[in-house]
Amino acid sequence: MKIAFVASEVFPYAKAGGLADVAGALPKELAKLGHDVKVFMPKYYQVNEYEYDLHYDRYIGEMPVRIGGHIQNTHVFHGYMPDSDVDIYFIHNPHYFHRPQIYTNDWDEDERFILFQKGVIEALQRMHWAPDIIHCNDWQTALIPLFIKDNYSWDKLFENTATLLTIHNIGYQGRFSPETLGRAEINGRYFYPGGPVEMDGGVNFLKAGIFFADMLNTVSPTYAKELLTPEFGAGLENYLRQRQNDFVGILNGVDYSIWNPETDKHIPYHYSIKNTSNKIKNKEFLLKQFNIKFNPDIPLIGIVSRLVAQKGFDIIADAINDLMSLKAQWIILGSGEQRYEDLFNTMAKYFPDKVGVYIGYNNELAHLIEAGADIFLMPSHYEPCGLNQIYSLKYGTVPVVRKTGGLADTVQDWNEYNAYGLDIGNGFSFYEYSGSALLHSVLRAINDFHNKPVWKKIQYNGMIKDYSWHHSAQEYNALYQRTYRK
Ligand code: ADP
Ligand code: GLC
Repeated sequence: MKIAFVASEVFPYAKAGGLADVAGALPKELAKLGHDVKVFMPKYYQVNEYEYDLHYDRYIGEMPVRIGGHIQNTHVFHGYMPDSDVDIYFIHNPHYFHRPQIYTNDWDEDERFILFQKGVIEALQRMHWAPDIIHCNDWQTALIPLFIKDNYSWDKLFENTATLLTIHNIGYQGRFSPETLGRAEINGRYFYPGGPVEMDGGVNFLKAGIFFADMLNTVSPTYAKELLTPEFGAGLENYLRQRQNDFVGILNGVDYSIWNPETDKHIPYHYSIKNTSNKIKNKEFLLKQFNIKFNPDIPLIGIVSRLVAQKGFDIIADAINDLMSLKAQWIILGSGEQRYEDLFNTMAKYFPDKVGVYIGYNNELAHLIEAGADIFLMPSHYEPCGLNQIYSLKYGTVPVVRKTGGLADTVQDWNEYNAYGLDIGNGFSFYEYSGSALLHSVLRAINDFHNKPVWKKIQYNGMIKDYSWHHSAQEYNALYQRTYRK
């Protein structure tokens, strides 16, 4: 099949979170299954054409894209995804995309991604390439199904094109004022209370995607169920319910060419399930970076995360005094909301001998924490899939998570499963969203950390499991067939 894969972030070119990891890996895996895949993303300021050998696409040439009646001259760059022959196209418009961050709170954030989406469609037209499937990801791409079915329905090129929308996180919907309707040139007949693009009086990109995409999915089976409830659906649950028959959950995979302790190019000491003895050297190395004394008998707890409420930092804050009084060390990497950055900076200041904090984005350190920590903490309020806990499993770094979304699908609680006589537990999890439940699980983990045979078994259970993309890509393959048949 011919598949256009459209995303607002793709690793290694630009990344804010897990979407980039997915968009950097799944297309290559689909190509291995024999699909003809082309990836599309914006050419942000951060995307360096020399580093990635990208070239101005002369065949496409100058491409005027209309935003609210005004013409924006746009171009396309082309390259190949690393270690593959998968084409990647970058929609180039410096006015919109040359900004310090890939996502902004600027007044024209809507226009930036309207331009991107129209740019993708216009590029397909100029390439005369009719995809069987346009695979959209999150709100930044969720108007494409509507555009294809309405604004561009005159173009026979898309006569047989079907659309799939993957929801990576319903917390981000692309909600704007009613003026956005005109900027996107969306037909006013879709904008009425309760209508396909309207929500609370404004325009909602994700809702439009839920209405117009031929098929929908999200990134884990549990989150797919959760999204149908008011607690998790963020106001869109009823619309998802209406499309329940066209909505499935497919767990994300992992790119083990990047996240694997046997070959990871960012860690100094490699190790494997057969011989984990080097793991502790990474711990020593990691602690040294933060001037924290290495002691093999003190567990090291790692956090790598966007510092936002979704990730459970409120319950960490609630339990912070108790957590800091534990005999444990902490390395925290993240950036996001000021209040959480302040919380961790304060901890590092008061407990310099046990807490190391790095505020910012640092890919190498993210790898080093996965390798060096004993325990990985991820107490998310909600988690569509979550990749870090899956990376942790592979690195023998035992995850402590809240049982929600993809965390529930990947982490089996050691005690709970043991109680059923199954020694398949690979981590620790808790259900109640509270500081005390979190603390209780961290305590259980620390306790078992000191019981070496048990700890080895928990690590083993995590490391043995294969979460590579191969399996999930087969599921997407089946979903594409289903989408196309519709
Ligand atoms: P989300 O997409 O919600 O942020 P995921 O667990 O799916 O959560 O993916 C997060 C990805 O972003 C992982 O690859 C993780 O290593 C990376 N990441 C998050 N914060 C940072 C950071 N501060 N520095 C480097 N990598 C980070
Ligand atoms: C989102 C979710 C995360 C998921 C990622 C990739 O950012 O928050 O849980 O793993 O998308 O699908």
